[in-house]
Amino acid sequence: MKEVTWKSPSNIALVKYWGKYPVQLPANPSISFTLSAAATTTTLKYKQGTGQVVVFLEGEEAPSFLPKIHTFLERTQKLFPFTREWDFEVHTSNSFPHSSGIASSASGMSALSLCLMSVKEALGITITDFFEEASEAARLGSGSGSRSLYGPMAAWGTHENTPGSNDRFAVAYNHIDPIFKSFQDTILLVDKGTKKVSSTVGHQLMEGHPYAAARFQQAHTNQTALLTALSEGDLEAFGSLVESEALTLHAMMMASTPYFILMHPNTLKVIEAVWAFRKETGTPLYFTLDAGANVHLLYPASHKDVTLSFIEEHLKTFCKDGSYLCDAVGAGPEKIG
Ligand code: DP6
Repeated sequence: MKEVTWKSPSNIALVKYWGKYPVQLPANPSISFTLSAAATTTTLKYKQGTGQVVVFLEGEEAPSFLPKIHTFLERTQKLFPFTREWDFEVHTSNSFPHSSGIASSASGMSALSLCLMSVKEALGITITDFFEEASEAARLGSGSGSRSLYGPMAAWGTHENTPGSNDRFAVAYNHIDPIFKSFQDTILLVDKGTKKVSSTVGHQLMEGHPYAAARFQQAHTNQTALLTALSEGDLEAFGSLVESEALTLHAMMMASTPYFILMHPNTLKVIEAVWAFRKETGTPLYFTLDAGANVHLLYPASHKDVTLSFIEEHLKTFCKDGSYLCDAVGAGPEKIG
């Protein structure tokens, strides 16, 4: 069998994608930091055949992933018209612990998309733009995965002030003050369990949601303001937009039918402690949240020592088994073989 290997990172949204319409198109624009430590490495082995797929996760056969991969291959037929004439083995592993509650769909789908792009290239099929097509494919697997293709930041979804932005694939975003390239993301693992709300169910909650129209509009306004904060190196404006986006995401969930609370009591304790620490010390430490209880702490590398001491002394106690992961803004995917 021939093979190709890509390592692709996870990403953390600053303006959140929450709500979509078929097929995998975003209801609003979003923009994210590309991460560096949290990543998926996928080796795709292939030989001529009939479209058979076998998946291995951390070396063990994992048939539970097959339905998602088959849906992905159906949706990406136009991009990868060759997949029915080849047999594949997908060998995938994550840098972060399986039970950490860190979603692997963005890094996993982007790594698989990049592997398939390399197969497409090896087969001599015309490619217009390697990363745009990889991002479009990743989007068809997982919306947020479209943003894992470029560092240090990526934007997905048509937005009036984001050059090149569109709903089909994400674009790299670089118009940022250098301080943001040094940003750290320390992920406090408040709850390691599987997600209470799958992303599919989560996005559906925005269909017919009483605040949907206002929320989608707000994402546009917030992204415009965030782009200004990013280019001016305005940490305070950055922090208040990012924290507001995180709380709005959770507010949408609380106000939907059915309703969910995905924060854990310790999530709130962390948020309160971060606010108090910022007020007392002036450290530019901000939080964001995913659709779960874990807290992402965002801060410049210049404040790493003071923040890590604060985490050790005051926040670790709110983490499950005292665990947290140290990550930082990264450069995007890497071809390994
Ligand atoms: C809260 O990308 O996981 O992390 O498109 O159904 O795979 P699917 O959803 P997914 O949703 C991510 C939602 C979010 C916000 C974000 O990353 O923008």
